[in-house]
Amino acid sequence: MKSRPTSGVHLTGWGAYAPSQVLTNADLERMVDTNDEWIVSRTGIRERRIAGPGETTASMAAVAGLRAIATAGLGPDDIDLIIVGTLTPDYQMPSTAALVKDAIGNKRAAAMDVAAACSGFVYGYATAQAYVASGMARHVLVIGAETLSRYTDFSDRTTCILFGDGAGAVVLSASDEPGGTLGIEIRTEPSGAYFIWLPGGGSSRPPTASTIAAGEHFMKMKGAETFKMAVRTLGSTALASLSRAGIELADVDLVVPHQANIRIIEALARSLDFPMARVFVNVECYGNTSAASVPMALSEAVAAGRVKKGDRLLFVAFGSGLTSGAITLEWTADPAAFSRAADIGPEDVTVMPGYLGPVNPFPPALEWLRRDAAASSGRNPDLDVRDIKPAAKGPPAAASRPG
Ligand code: UT7
Repeated sequence: MKSRPTSGVHLTGWGAYAPSQVLTNADLERMVDTNDEWIVSRTGIRERRIAGPGETTASMAAVAGLRAIATAGLGPDDIDLIIVGTLTPDYQMPSTAALVKDAIGNKRAAAMDVAAACSGFVYGYATAQAYVASGMARHVLVIGAETLSRYTDFSDRTTCILFGDGAGAVVLSASDEPGGTLGIEIRTEPSGAYFIWLPGGGSSRPPTASTIAAGEHFMKMKGAETFKMAVRTLGSTALASLSRAGIELADVDLVVPHQANIRIIEALARSLDFPMARVFVNVECYGNTSAASVPMALSEAVAAGRVKKGDRLLFVAFGSGLTSGAITLEWTADPAAFSRAADIGPEDVTVMPGYLGPVNPFPPALEWLRRDAAASSGRNPDLDVRDIKPAAKGPPAAASRPG
């Protein structure tokens, strides 16, 4: 990558992908002691999407990424750097970004994951901004993608109602035109580090039969504590980003917040005295998709005609860490460019398989739902499982040699 500092960084492409399987509040009523009225009144969520057996974070990220590249009017090989914000990577290693690079057919980009939980997309954006502004990259693909359903305890009513799967992406490009990114603020407050966490599987509590028996591979959350800290942090981070941009909140045309809970979003708007009419909300359809939520919401907002050239946008997110981040930008792209991505779908990406035999990663607790959905559409549910890519060739011979 050549070093060629640039004056402007613009959001030139955007795209999203949501898996087709829907999990409604009524479905959850059949699984845990909850009800639609409680979930809607406490969270605003009515349904969420669940990745199918043949889908992973990388496969969904790749579809959203290809859509964003097409919207930007670019090809995969125009991308210099791929950043994936995720807390649910396909593997601990390699990075999900490396798998995305191969899946979208890019031959030249560097690729890396960013671990900032639900703020992963905003942190990825901030990282991409630095690369483009410094001249180290001309076009960066930033993706937020999650398969949270595979880290959710579907017997825990305090968490399983909240989360869903999906992916969203943007392309950031160098340009000397006016507008583009105006101000960024990213923060981390470790005092809330264990408000939302996934205890098992890391170097502190490596996976064993007992960590798995104890359900340590599922997300845990102190909901009320997270809620309070979220409202406070989102507001101050958003204001700091605006101050760096040198504009007032009143000048913002649309806020695209992390879609965690409608009550958090409304409390944020109240605390800032900002009208909800200028806040984009789609939490009712997707639940909390963590790093995917801001770019998924952005794509829907543009498709819904809520964004036009010259608009000032504010993205703001918070997540485990506790991380938070906000981006203030002036939109300079043609919103109609999304039509360039109209023909791109899951059939356009293939994530290279590892050399172990395939498994069905779909949450066992939701198997009944998948089978019901297949039966009502006359599909054979076992065919979805057969979509899982077969194992690639075995490990290199050297890997099995001692020493
Ligand atoms: O990306 C960041 C991810 N995390 C978040 O955004 C989470 C932020 N926190 C929240 O969104 C909210 O705290 C929740 C939606 C998780 C919970 O709402 P709450 O108003 O804070 O409820 P609560 O935890 O104070 O629980 C109130 C009651 C409790 O019963 P008791 O002790 O009052 O008898 C819970 O056991 O509601 C009960 N409850 C439920 N009842 C029906 C908890 N979950 C459920 C449920 N259905 N699913």
